Amino acid sequence: MRRRELVGGLGLSTLFLLFPSLAVAAGPTLKAAKVGQKIVWRGYVYTVVSSKGKLVWKQGAKVAVATASATATPSISTTPSASATPTSTASSTPSASATPTPTPTATSTKTAEPVAVAHPELGVFIAFSSKLKEGDFGVFPARNTKGELLNYALSRKGGVVKCFSTVCTHAGCIVQASRDDLWCPCHNSYFDAYNGKATGGPANDPLEMYKASEADGAIYIKP
Ligand code: FES
Repeated sequence: MRRRELVGGLGLSTLFLLFPSLAVAAGPTLKAAKVGQKIVWRGYVYTVVSSKGKLVWKQGAKVAVATASATATPSISTTPSASATPTSTASSTPSASATPTPTPTATSTKTAEPVAVAHPELGVFIAFSSKLKEGDFGVFPARNTKGELLNYALSRKGGVVKCFSTVCTHAGCIVQASRDDLWCPCHNSYFDAYNGKATGGPANDPLEMYKASEADGAIYIKP
């Protein structure tokens, strides 16, 4: 018996090797339950169909096996997406002023005038001694004992300081310091700047002289 089955099996296997389609046609060993039932068996799709009143398996399409591609090329881009020449969005002209506005300082550019202080014995202050060097003469403003602001002519010669009124003895105009003497512009009278005498023009009398004194680097007069 076993020998007969073995021989039969060997014969059937040989037959299937020679004619593979016969093995496929045998269909799945699973019992067909209903029409339309599908299974995958040995790489093929089988569907239950009705044939001559019986439910049998019908071989269908071969099941495709997905194969991973071994030659896939990485999709790495060698070209950077960023622009090679960046565009600056900053404004080249700053909105703020490049030249800062100087802050005013408390220092005043106005030259402070010396404080005129009346000397109790020498009279009123008229100028600092440094302003009248040897051989110099000029006209200086000063306030008299009544507080009036007037011009006075000062000169220094031989170390002696003299002071004269600037009121012209001709008709009362105010004399000015010229290059070599004191000069009245009204009628061209001239006066010596060091002694006050009239040297030209219609004026004859000398200029009124005041007592001038120096103390502690300042010149005082008694007008
Ligand atoms: S008032 Fe000075 S010259 Fe006449």
